[in-house]
Amino acid sequence: MKAIKKSLPGARHRAPTRKSIWIIAVFSLITMLVIGAYMFPHRSRAACYMFSSRGCKGLTDWLPPSVREFSDDEIASRVVIREILSSPRVIQKSSKIAFMFLTPGTLPFEKLWDLFFQGHEGKFSVYIHASKDTPVHTSRYFVNREIRSDEVVWGRISMIDAERRLLSNALRDPENQQFVLLSDSCVPLRSFDYMYNYMMYSNVSYVDCFDDPGPHGKGRHMDHMLPEIPKEDFRKGAQWFSMKRQHAVITMADSLYYSKFRDYCGPGVENNKNCIADEHYLPTFFYMVDPTGIANWTVTYVDWSEKKWHPRKFMREDIMPELLKNITSIDSVSRVTSEGTGEVTWTDCMWNGIKRPCYLFGRKFHPGSLDKLIDLFSNYTIISS
Ligand SMILES: *[C@@H]1O[C@H](CO)[C@@H](O)[C@H](O)[C@H]1NC(C)=O
Ligand SMILES: *[C@@H]1O[C@H](CO)[C@@H](O)[C@H](O)[C@H]1NC(C)=O
Ligand SMILES: *[C@@H]1O[C@H](CO)[C@@H](O)[C@H](O)[C@H]1NC(C)=O
Ligand SMILES: *[C@@H]1O[C@H](CO)[C@@H](O)[C@H](O)[C@H]1NC(C)=O
Repeated sequence: MKAIKKSLPGARHRAPTRKSIWIIAVFSLITMLVIGAYMFPHRSRAACYMFSSRGCKGLTDWLPPSVREFSDDEIASRVVIREILSSPRVIQKSSKIAFMFLTPGTLPFEKLWDLFFQGHEGKFSVYIHASKDTPVHTSRYFVNREIRSDEVVWGRISMIDAERRLLSNALRDPENQQFVLLSDSCVPLRSFDYMYNYMMYSNVSYVDCFDDPGPHGKGRHMDHMLPEIPKEDFRKGAQWFSMKRQHAVITMADSLYYSKFRDYCGPGVENNKNCIADEHYLPTFFYMVDPTGIANWTVTYVDWSEKKWHPRKFMREDIMPELLKNITSIDSVSRVTSEGTGEVTWTDCMWNGIKRPCYLFGRKFHPGSLDKLIDLFSNYTIISS
């Protein structure tokens, strides 16, 4: 109080000079605008705003967008999410990485994963969602690690349901701090230590997310998703994520955005739009609730360079040191939009501000490549930069 009272007399003395400066400033601004409007009648947006209330096309994009009032559900959901995200991340010696395998049945690369996990007991846990057949195991780390599963239909919400089932089972163990989703065709590309440090000490989650304005991106947005999911927020990305615990919790906590995808994202819901739940739900959700908390790319490599409906499958004869060296040295990711001939953009893979190789895992590998991958494993995982 004292300080404010003391400063008041001084302020009163300065008031007249300030006032006159303001008058001069406002007067000059108006004069400039009048002259501007006179000299460039249709070009200046400021002039347009000042002197015409109609017929100004530029006016709508010049004004800030109107802010939509959130529904009760949206307010509740945003409050819960913000609270979870603000909880501190604690990485300890006992912190584990949850490896969550989404597979129809037997995992063909268990023996390779066994080699990868060996000697790192206590630093990882395995969960298997086998949607069709009971898996036959070839590694002790996978025995009795199946969770209760259900049918998974590609592109449908049942895929997301399976991911959520894996997450909720893995979240039951409080030591799990990082959650990686993998498929039966995935293989490790790095040593366990390299992978562990890369993921545990990264300040972002690896959720793939990009803006595709084309028919296979924003073109799949459904009007039914409005108003909670605006078309401009609709995003695309590969489903194979790796996320920190807080992000796994908000994924489980979300029912608002999830239900929009459950009810309206499917093939042919609106005018033959082919919405594929697993390509859009998490990218859109994270873009909306924590855009700076994700890397926007995934640590699982896949080769789309053949530009076919499915990515390239690596066969036994493809497996050689040079191929693995090539994949593990990639340090930027490309994106191709589905507009026209496809616009390509490249992004560097940044890890806590440093440019580093992007990939820790790879897909799609043919089961026939197992022996060769095992032979080469110590060769291709030895580089530790
Ligand atoms: C990911 O993209 C969002 C915009 O969509 C951006 O705000 C964020 O910084 C990006 N993340 C990183 C790690 O660059
Ligand atoms: C590895 O990358 C080089 C350079 O891009 C390319 O010429 C070569 O064909 C690649 N080798 C394999 C096995 O993919
Ligand atoms: C992650 O670290 C980088 C580099 O230090 C920094 O620019 C970025 O803001 C950080 N991101 C988050 C989500 O903390
Ligand atoms: C891996 O194999 C390649 C080809 O056989 C060889 O040139 C290279 O030295 C090996 N690297 C390591 C680290 O053993």
